[in-house]
Amino acid sequence: MFAQGKPLTTPSVLKLAAAASLFLVVLFFFLPHDATSRIIPTPRVDLTPTHRPSSPSSPPRDDIIPNQVHFVYILPNTTTNFHFQFSHFLSLYAAWHHFRPDSIHLHTNTLPTGPEITRARNGTAGKWNAHIFNTTLIPLQIHTVPVPTHAGNGQPLANMEHRSDFVRVQAVHDHGGVYLDWDVHALRDLRPLRESGFRAVAGRQLGGQINSGTFMSVKGGRMVRLWREQMHVVYTGGWTTHSNEVITRVGQRLVGEPGGREMLIMEREAFAPGSWRAEDTDALFGVRGDVESNLVGYVEGVALPGYEEAFEARWERPEEFKEWERDWSFTYLLHAFTPDRWSHKVAGFEHITPRYVLERRSNFARAVYPIAKIMYDKGLIGVDDSHEG
Ligand SMILES: *[C@@H]1O[C@H](CO)[C@@H](O)[C@H](O)[C@H]1NC(C)=O
Ligand SMILES: *[C@@H]1O[C@H](CO)[C@@H](O)[C@H](O)[C@H]1NC(C)=O
Ligand SMILES: *[C@@H]1O[C@H](CO)[C@@H](O)[C@H](O)[C@H]1NC(C)=O
Repeated sequence: MFAQGKPLTTPSVLKLAAAASLFLVVLFFFLPHDATSRIIPTPRVDLTPTHRPSSPSSPPRDDIIPNQVHFVYILPNTTTNFHFQFSHFLSLYAAWHHFRPDSIHLHTNTLPTGPEITRARNGTAGKWNAHIFNTTLIPLQIHTVPVPTHAGNGQPLANMEHRSDFVRVQAVHDHGGVYLDWDVHALRDLRPLRESGFRAVAGRQLGGQINSGTFMSVKGGRMVRLWREQMHVVYTGGWTTHSNEVITRVGQRLVGEPGGREMLIMEREAFAPGSWRAEDTDALFGVRGDVESNLVGYVEGVALPGYEEAFEARWERPEEFKEWERDWSFTYLLHAFTPDRWSHKVAGFEHITPRYVLERRSNFARAVYPIAKIMYDKGLIGVDDSHEG
């Protein structure tokens, strides 16, 4: 039957081959099913999620917002000190901790080696300034940037906030990354948003406008490019004419552009769940009388308790939650509009101090407590530290 007396193999080799195939078949049935891939060599595929392109040959993506963070602080003149407070350090540290950024930048109008930063760094301007400029703690990179005194239409930029508005848009335009106001507190990582495929992301605030206190973009993205151009044209001195109004107008139009990936607009709760209204600042900062301070019985030098909330706890054990207690699970960045600016007095609240946060008696305190606990456990903050200096 076999081809015309041309045996290709000797009987002993045939037996060996038969035995080997039988062995493989037996192995196939006896090994756990997922072990079969060990018999048939297959290329190793790493299934762990990664932010790198899926294969080395795919072109670099132009829609990944870089993992760099930008802050802005403009000094009115060179005789002044930086006036960073505990809340600023808390904001910086949260971004550093949650984002694990590739770099973190401060855009300001003084030289890295100038007297203002030297004073801050050597402790002359107090603990929080020293911490913020301590590059061993957080490798903050200082960028000395030109600060415009006039908009392109000739209108003077009277106040520091407006000058900062121009600097922040320029910074994100030039470098790409995430801009944060100093009263924006990161509650979780932004990687899923930065890598979502949208080239810019921002969120709505009370009333529906897009808030300019935090936004992110790829370098030179269309949204920041248009905003950077138009803010110079429309500036009137009005509080948000050149900021929220422009990013809202431009951002909304970009959503509808072909391809639809120039802009993602998040719901209000994502970045700016509170507001400047008295009732919202009360709900955020107000100290509650119906919960005990987390510091009762604390022992100095001993790590503070952690509070992990189980996924289904809120509906399975509602009795464990106060009616005022906010669920922060769908907030990425908490833009904590401070009541000071509108000179509204919030019950039981004076300043964001370490004690105020560590006591966990307000919604704000509970939101930022996990970061403050890390800072406390590392010895960076003390319960009795002041909010400033
Ligand atoms: C510098 O700025 C501070 C704060 O705005 C102000 O009080 C002071 O007069 C200014 N000094 C000069 C020399 O402009
Ligand atoms: C801190 O730096 C400032 C500005 O250079 C200097 O005047 C001051 O003496 C320094 N203080 C200390 C404690 O090193
Ligand atoms: C800066 O931070 C490091 C790390 O926590 C600390 O060891 C060092 O003493 C700090 N430097 C200053 C000047 O506070």
